[in-house]
Amino acid sequence: MGPVIRKGKAASGVTIAGLEFKNPVMTASGTFGYGAEFAPYVDLGRLGAIVVKGLSLYPRQGNPGPRIAETPCGMLNAIGLQNVGVDDFIEKKLPLIRGAGTHIIANVFGETVEDYMEVAGRLDRAKGVSAVEVNISCPNVKKGGMVFGTDPQEAFKVVSAVRKSTRLPVITKLSPNVTDIKVMVKAAEDGGTDAVSLINTITGMAIDVDRRRPVLATATGGLSGPAIRPIAVRMVWQAAQAATVPVIGMGGIMTARDALEFIIAGATAVQVGTASFIEPDAAVKVAEGIEEYLSRNAMSIQDLIGSLRVA
Ligand SMILES: Cc1cc2nc3c(=O)[nH]c(=O)nc-3n(C[C@H](O)[C@H](O)[C@H](O)COP(=O)(O)O)c2cc1C
Repeated sequence: MGPVIRKGKAASGVTIAGLEFKNPVMTASGTFGYGAEFAPYVDLGRLGAIVVKGLSLYPRQGNPGPRIAETPCGMLNAIGLQNVGVDDFIEKKLPLIRGAGTHIIANVFGETVEDYMEVAGRLDRAKGVSAVEVNISCPNVKKGGMVFGTDPQEAFKVVSAVRKSTRLPVITKLSPNVTDIKVMVKAAEDGGTDAVSLINTITGMAIDVDRRRPVLATATGGLSGPAIRPIAVRMVWQAAQAATVPVIGMGGIMTARDALEFIIAGATAVQVGTASFIEPDAAVKVAEGIEEYLSRNAMSIQDLIGSLRVA
């Protein structure tokens, strides 16, 4: 007899921190705006979740340009967390996607622990937000971000503070710019996180040799896209071995087969980022491809998560 596929729920449905997702595919923060921008091109209701652009306490202009550069199989960005601020998001952006039939996950960012707490606290009172994703891994800002994501004690502090300021499930977004990802997983778990997501972008740089100047105004930026996928798969695999909470994997996912690598490595769900710039409905296509793979192999996603055999 083949594996049993659960009735009444799509074979690719997953549960994270008590939330049921119709499929394991989410959009990655910063690559899908506030969701509504993509509504003309994508049936938002077919996504597992929308993760919105990182939100801070006050609106931010971000970094000066140029702040995006194309690289082989990827891109560098140094947006610097430009966003409308948490209050504007709640008032003007959230109502546009609240009824979209998918979970809305708010990505949060602060320069101080208090900022993170305040933003998460305000989102807690906002109708329609399913969870917060705490970005402790942005490489493109001078203050906050990366400091929290590369020092386990700082990570613990910010995650436990956010945990206390909201009743919503907390997902901690980890940085790949560390030596041992397992230490950061443990710090986030000790802080009370309900899940971890990784990877954020990898610090990179490109130089215009004619001008002998950096391509980006900020000199360095974050590398994303297929170029980083093998690193991301390795880190998700390592994180999943260490984690007791669910892992959400991302980094260079363009197709369903790419996403399957992460799931087989141990991710319960995945996020699609840079691919949405090339094909706005890339995340929906990834979700459909996973569904198709499961039905072709008569498996449920639970059978597939962490099914990697090494040696
Ligand atoms: C233009 C751009 C903006 C991003 N902004 C954010 C952000 O605000 N918060 C965050 O946590 N991650 C942000 N990210 C990181 C992505 O969510 C994702 O972790 C990373 O790009 C790797 O996935 P990908 O290779 O599929 O793009 C951004 C990435 C890009 C390319």
